Amino acid sequence: MTEEPRKTRVAVVFGGRSAEHSISCVSAGSVMSALDPDRYEVVAVGITRDGGWVLHDGGPLAIVDGRLPEVTGGRPVTLVGDPSGRGLVELGGQAPLVPVDVVFPVLHGAYGEDGTIQGLLEMSGLPYVGSGVFASAASMDKEFTKKLLSAAGIAQGDHVVLRDGHGALTTDPAALSPAQRERLGLPVFVKPSRAGSSIGITKVADWADFAAAVATAAAVDTKIVVEASVPGREVECGVLAAPGGGLPHTSLPAEIRLKPGVDWYDFDAKYLDDAVDFDVPAQLTPEQTAAVQDVSRRAYLAMDCRGLARVDFFLGTDPDTGADVLVVNEVNTMPGFTPISMFPRMWAAAGVDHRELVDRLVASALAG
Ligand SMILES: Nc1ncnc2c1ncn2[C@@H]1O[C@H](COP(=O)(O)OP(=O)(O)O)[C@@H](O)[C@H]1O
Ligand SMILES: [Mg+2]
Repeated sequence: MTEEPRKTRVAVVFGGRSAEHSISCVSAGSVMSALDPDRYEVVAVGITRDGGWVLHDGGPLAIVDGRLPEVTGGRPVTLVGDPSGRGLVELGGQAPLVPVDVVFPVLHGAYGEDGTIQGLLEMSGLPYVGSGVFASAASMDKEFTKKLLSAAGIAQGDHVVLRDGHGALTTDPAALSPAQRERLGLPVFVKPSRAGSSIGITKVADWADFAAAVATAAAVDTKIVVEASVPGREVECGVLAAPGGGLPHTSLPAEIRLKPGVDWYDFDAKYLDDAVDFDVPAQLTPEQTAAVQDVSRRAYLAMDCRGLARVDFFLGTDPDTGADVLVVNEVNTMPGFTPISMFPRMWAAAGVDHRELVDRLVASALAG
């Protein structure tokens, strides 16, 4: 009798310390259900809101009766930082090492998508899905995203970075000079440089409201980006590493259309209100689709991404020439994976179903 080949053990890590804890849980539930049980053995690892790692106790990882999932309990574990370990150990227990072949960190935002857990995984020597330390940290930081994309010749909206280590940012009305105000014009978007889910962002239509907007952003981050408003449609596109290497593949683009009366895609519009319509794929001309895909691929490469990314755009029109103007807003290194998230839906529209998508991601992590 031949022995069956051992299944690949995938540690799916979710939850975490960011504001996107529950979204991460739902994303992870969706990733786990897409991992083929004939080939993969899933080790479900939750990170509590306090940062504790636990072997997930099996609670629902979906929205049930309107309640968002959360990592609360489970047997405490820790990742072995020594690369000879290659797995998880239970804290305080006599249980043997839980061996792991590959890690899928389905974490969004701080301590997940920002290079921190990627650093931990590098230390442990375990292969993992997605971008490494640098690309994760740079893509999480709006200032450095703009710098790297600009250096690669990818259009960016006008902006000013405010930084301050001494608290004066919130009280100094001259934080933005009159010349800078005139250059940016109104409205401006005032953003924490390193956040997500529109947290800490204010759209300012009157300079009288600017100081309050800076204070709101400064409560989230010590570095603030003030952006000129970029008019246009909100379009996004998925990027996926090509099997066996070579140029990454791109999905069909999608569009987020704000419903009438919705001003911008703020936190409530993202998660609470029924405020937007999603077009998957987006209604674009073949030329627009090709341009979005081309710039998405270039942005992925410019940020040094690995595995996957979702690139978000504003698609506007030049008032003088009528030509399309395509501006990258941001690069997400671990986009949402919930059943209604754009990333899996864009790939489905491009003929890559959820199971194949997850399979390709794990395979590319294992291939290094
Ligand atoms: N410069 C801008 N011009 C026009 N709209 C913007 C601009 N920046 C942000 N927005 C609006 O705010 C939303 C959130 O901004 P974004 O930079 O994507 O933050 P987050 O990283 O939190 O998703 C965007 O989806 C868009 O609706
Ligand atoms: Mg965004």
